[in-house]
Amino acid sequence: MRALTVAPGTANSARLEDVADPSTEDGAVLVRTLALGVCGTDREIVAGHYGWAPPGERRLVIGHESLGTVQQAPVDCGVKIGDLVVGIVRRPDPVPCGACAVGEWDMCRNGRYTERGIKERNGYGSEFFRIEPDFLVKVDSSLGIAGVLLEPTSVVTKAWDHTERIGQRTRSWQPKTLLVTGGGPVGLLAAMIGAQRGLDVHVLDHHESLRKRDLVRQLGGTYHIEALADLPLQPDILMECTGAPSVVREILGRTASGGIVCLVGVTTPGHDFNLDIGAINRTMVLDNDTVFGSVNANRRHYELAAEALRRADKAWLDKLITRREPVEQWTQSLQRQPDDIKVIVEFS
Ligand code: BGC
Repeated sequence: MRALTVAPGTANSARLEDVADPSTEDGAVLVRTLALGVCGTDREIVAGHYGWAPPGERRLVIGHESLGTVQQAPVDCGVKIGDLVVGIVRRPDPVPCGACAVGEWDMCRNGRYTERGIKERNGYGSEFFRIEPDFLVKVDSSLGIAGVLLEPTSVVTKAWDHTERIGQRTRSWQPKTLLVTGGGPVGLLAAMIGAQRGLDVHVLDHHESLRKRDLVRQLGGTYHIEALADLPLQPDILMECTGAPSVVREILGRTASGGIVCLVGVTTPGHDFNLDIGAINRTMVLDNDTVFGSVNANRRHYELAAEALRRADKAWLDKLITRREPVEQWTQSLQRQPDDIKVIVEFS
């Protein structure tokens, strides 16, 4: 079967190649891949900056944002032939640490977790893949191709889950304003969930996109492109979805009192800035502010994500998928084009 592969650590090693059919060691359920979402992590892997091949191998089948249909499944395993499904990305570490032991692999404490398509496990970027039933999530069939948004949505529902748990440290918490920095798929999905919560939603992007302005307006939110310092806003919740060091520097200390900043975007190391740590510390302490990071998602977050997508406007979700590349031209999906939001690779 054909698969999208890379040699992690080597820049521009991406290929479409023939590989062996999926092994039953990967799990009892056989899935035929329909589409794969491409994200910043995939681009970093292809650039040679991130990613690990399975032990003893040089190449990795890439792809962690999956969508497929079940081809074969044991009876009573939770999914049946024809179901639309998405694979969970992370697997618990083998020790397991306390978090992985209770199914919270997204909170793994020793870093020995594995991730399909990213860290030491082949991904979902092949015509077929096999998977353990416990790591499959069923998607509402009415979502169609937009089901490929489940994995990025799970990253966002985890960020929301933790933000709300922090907020509930005080009985009086009633957030009103959400600021999302970044108008990519994760930022827009974070804004969508903010709108589902009834918040006053603001999305700050780095350059004007009429398409994104329109998408934010359809959520009932406001789209901004001015400098963060010029925004007349003190959000109760700030979701940082750019991973841009200059944005991360700017957001610290910018929330309303008791504000919560959730860092969802991943930054590359090697950016030094002058920061007035004294001023930031004073604001954060005297205002009881929180800044925290959030990555990955466990099964509960995938289920919350499936519910959030089910409640969303399907036409709105479809508009997030702005480009579809056939598998033969999958490397095109890695090239950013102006006004791209979510780019997907189609298998069939
Ligand atoms: C994926 C996460 C993963 C993270 C770090 C993200 O792109 O969506 O599932 O944990 O990369 O590898």
